[in-house]
Amino acid sequence: MIDYKTGIDVIDWESLLQLYFETDGVVGLGRAENLERIKEAFLNSYKIVTAWDGDRIIGAGRLISDGVCYGWIHDMAVRPDCQKTGVGRGIMEELLDGSESLLIGLTSAFGAEDFYHKLGFKKHKTAMAKYPGESIYLED
Ligand SMILES: CC(C)(COP(=O)(O)OP(=O)(O)OC[C@H]1O[C@@H](n2cnc3c(N)ncnc32)[C@H](O)[C@@H]1OP(=O)(O)O)[C@@H](O)C(=O)NCCC(=O)NCCS
Repeated sequence: MIDYKTGIDVIDWESLLQLYFETDGVVGLGRAENLERIKEAFLNSYKIVTAWDGDRIIGAGRLISDGVCYGWIHDMAVRPDCQKTGVGRGIMEELLDGSESLLIGLTSAFGAEDFYHKLGFKKHKTAMAKYPGESIYLED
């Protein structure tokens, strides 16, 4: 039985770090084990959803938003041993619940595009991004 919890207060930070270490999430901060920066980023988020198997966080995602017009999904991740069992979908549904009127954007990791397609997302014709450094996701 998987529990989906919303909010920052419920988070077990070591368990969250383990998730992002395993999935190489939060722009490399997980692999770098930089919990301080991850905490700072999560504290500044609009909504955070974590998925739990007992006392272990097995998945998470967050929404950055103004709550009125726009939102952006980031850091969707499910532990490798729990993937493809519906946990990612469960997190996304909780994250988007109550934000139906918002324009929601996201960028997919390579290979995860069909996950977002199945949740109703479509490719944007003119989306652009700027990274602090080089990225394999950007065209020349
Ligand atoms: C991408 C990710 C979050 C998906 O979570 P998940 O729990 O495995 O996904 P779900 O089991 O809820 O899948 C929902 C549907 O999407 C499909 N799906 C999931 N991941 C997929 C993938 N990588 N490619 C194609 N389809 C995928 C599932 O088969 C399922 O389809 P169905 O409804 O027809 O049965 C997870 O695989 C993950 O953490 N990957 C590594 C980190 C990553 O790439 N994160 C995304 C950052 S943008």
